[in-house]
Amino acid sequence: MTHSTQTDFGAEADGSASRFGVDLATTKPGTPGGVFMRQFWIAVARAKDIAAGEAKPLRIMNEDFTIYRGASGQAHIVDAHCPHRFALMHLGWVEGEDIRCVYHGWKFDCSGQCVEQPAEEPGFARKVKIGVYPTQEFIGLVYAYFGEGEPPAFPPFPVRETPGIMDIWNAERVPCNYLQSFENSMDEVHVAFTHSPGGSHAPLAVDLPSVSAEETDWGMLRLGTRRNGLARVSLHYAPNVTRVIVPPRTGLNFAGWREIYFHFTPVDDENHLWLIAGHTEGTEAEIADYRAKQAEYDKRVAAAPPAGDVARDLMAGIGRYADTRHPDLAVIQDLATQAGQGRIVRRSGERLGRSDIAIIQWRKILARELRIIAEGGARKTWTRAPADIKPTLGF
Ligand code: FES
Ligand SMILES: [Fe+2]
Repeated sequence: MTHSTQTDFGAEADGSASRFGVDLATTKPGTPGGVFMRQFWIAVARAKDIAAGEAKPLRIMNEDFTIYRGASGQAHIVDAHCPHRFALMHLGWVEGEDIRCVYHGWKFDCSGQCVEQPAEEPGFARKVKIGVYPTQEFIGLVYAYFGEGEPPAFPPFPVRETPGIMDIWNAERVPCNYLQSFENSMDEVHVAFTHSPGGSHAPLAVDLPSVSAEETDWGMLRLGTRRNGLARVSLHYAPNVTRVIVPPRTGLNFAGWREIYFHFTPVDDENHLWLIAGHTEGTEAEIADYRAKQAEYDKRVAAAPPAGDVARDLMAGIGRYADTRHPDLAVIQDLATQAGQGRIVRRSGERLGRSDIAIIQWRKILARELRIIAEGGARKTWTRAPADIKPTLGF
């Protein structure tokens, strides 16, 4: 059987390594994808999960690190392993802004300089360093820079300044490549089907949007235009952040729709994190009410099975997708559909259509940049998005 090249958008841009000569999905260090991602600030953790005086292991873009928060409140990221004999640094002690290895007591300051070696000759310490990576905090998240030279401007993008509250969602560890979920965030048609059980996105499902997308200096602007002519505008900040207006979480209808800053952070090539900051507009009284109801809601989520476990069961055929109900239902629905595509979706086998135009557009941008990196050419200069380009609800 032959198929029409007119409608076979996949033949134009299937995103496969064989077609583009580059691997779009990997972020391993030294690969074009890894170099591309390391040009940007990357959200790595929720600020509230890193307590002062504590060190934790951190795996980001296929590399292992140690994250800790010093006595001043500043977060620090250093290599996972001590340069002496490679003990894990997070087993050690945080002392002020410094970190001391648990194995033989070598201590490193936050510039990475070794400043103490209890069992060594004086003068050796100054010759030893551990790798350190710049960190910054913004909207409740810790960001890090893992690239060469000076990091780009911070914060990496503007946020809505209207009165309201910025709060942080549950962090999800998602068992698939980050690009799959970033692509899903460009897929406006899925909401009418994936989120149909439970009805969380019902106002977006009355008709299907006509999708368009255009490259910008800071990423990609996407429009989903409805039959009534109204467009839902969503922003994709390079390399992995989607800014979009979404429904209130199940049971939080009092709070109205809210704007989210959704970060898809690679852990390795087969896992990534969802780190989401959400802005809800409201007066002081509305926000006080919101906080109280959110606390109740958090209790319901804590009492329910973890969303990741429910999604894993659905993927394995345990329970029925259409019948599943949960306080975090939309999260479960997204996890099951995206992780269910496989750890790294087989892009060369897809059959893309007209509604995938935004995904195709981003793959073209990504493939172009990765090819330039592979060939050593002049890369695009990405700029910080202007504050006046904002998402809209579109109905
Ligand atoms: S391995 Fe860290 S001090 Fe020896
Ligand atoms: Fe979704």
